Amino acid sequence: MRVLLTGGAGYIGSHTAIALLARGHRVVVLDDLVNASEVALERAARIAGAEIPLVVGDAADVDLVRSVLREHRIDAVIHFAGLKAVGESVAEPLRYYGVNLGTAIGTLQAMAAEGVERFVFSSSATVYEQPGPLLREDAPVGIALENPYGRTKAMIESIVTDAAAADGRLQAALLRYFNPVGAHESGDIGEDPKGIPNNLMPYIAQVAAGERERLRVFGDDYDTPDGTGVRDYIHVVDLAEGHVAALEALAPGVLTVNLGTGQGATVLEVLRAFERAVGRELPFEVVDRRPGDAAVSTADPSRAHEVLGWRARRTLDDAVRDAWRWQSRNPRGYRG
Ligand code: NAD
Ligand code: UD1
Repeated sequence: MRVLLTGGAGYIGSHTAIALLARGHRVVVLDDLVNASEVALERAARIAGAEIPLVVGDAADVDLVRSVLREHRIDAVIHFAGLKAVGESVAEPLRYYGVNLGTAIGTLQAMAAEGVERFVFSSSATVYEQPGPLLREDAPVGIALENPYGRTKAMIESIVTDAAAADGRLQAALLRYFNPVGAHESGDIGEDPKGIPNNLMPYIAQVAAGERERLRVFGDDYDTPDGTGVRDYIHVVDLAEGHVAALEALAPGVLTVNLGTGQGATVLEVLRAFERAVGRELPFEVVDRRPGDAAVSTADPSRAHEVLGWRARRTLDDAVRDAWRWQSRNPRGYRG
């Protein structure tokens, strides 16, 4: 298939481009580069040994998306474009609603106008109203979530569901990612957060690189094996392969699937895994809980296996090793 990746120059999109090319699909990226670098795509193209044309622009611009769909004779869209920083979404809600809803609606409108029927959306485990262990896809999804970012994901899931109810030709997948981590095993592409990382794994990587003094562990009084938060960390290359499987499994209607491993790890277990990869102890201190954090969030990944024939194959140690390879080879990310 010829696949358009909106937001495809970003962390998950660049890895997915490689996975698609490896399966013989063709890839085009539309990205406004607000949180990405062209260098990521140049490197992804080199790893894949194929071209990845980049159109720099806004995925909310219906005319632009239509012209890309036409020009490249696109069969399917994977919609990664959007803003993803939870704290920023609380400070700038209108920007988050505007960009996240605007790009989803704009892309779907362009697809309808050009007769493109396949749509895969980057949703999140954050849509579950009640986080917990082994979450199943039929668990309640909330609009009354903790933050505007999470609400945009739940709203877009509803928008896609309504669009599919109105147009029986639409074939959509809502992929609920758990915690994507790691990097391509080449060490050439990975996560390149701007400023202080919000998420655990890139933060530890910067502590290991000596760029941050110590990890702050947000609470050790949860009801978990060591008191720290439990999450389902999924290697980004497994996640990328999950997109290929979802694309190839599309059928009319909406398919909702968790992409996770089913395994939980605590904050301290992630830290220990990183220490093994780096070969030394890393400094940390326990501080207060972060507002809005759940004790536990892990996936029941069985539907993905049943419906997509996909399951995560890489371990947390693989993810940590690959994240460290990326971080140590690219201490300044794509900036040089
Ligand atoms: P990312 O920021 O690296 O990628 C998003 C991309 O979208 C960036 O390249 C950015 O430049 C682009 N973009 C933003 N606004 C745009 C616009 N108006 N038009 C075109 N491009 C635009 O983030 P990521 O981690 O690769 O996440 C990809 C998707 O997956 C996002 O929708 C995110 O919300 C979702 N998601 C991510 C995680 C995670 O932990 N990384 C978890 C669950 C869901
Ligand atoms: C966070 C977002 C979620 C988003 C996801 C991916 C919140 C409340 N949730 O999920 O909406 O979809 O990122 O972008 O922000 N931790 C520390 N110290 C740190 C960073 C994290 O102890 O410096 C802990 C957290 O308390 C948590 C775990 O590490 O227990 C993972 O945190 P993080 O990587 O931020 O992911 P989530 O909180 O699961």
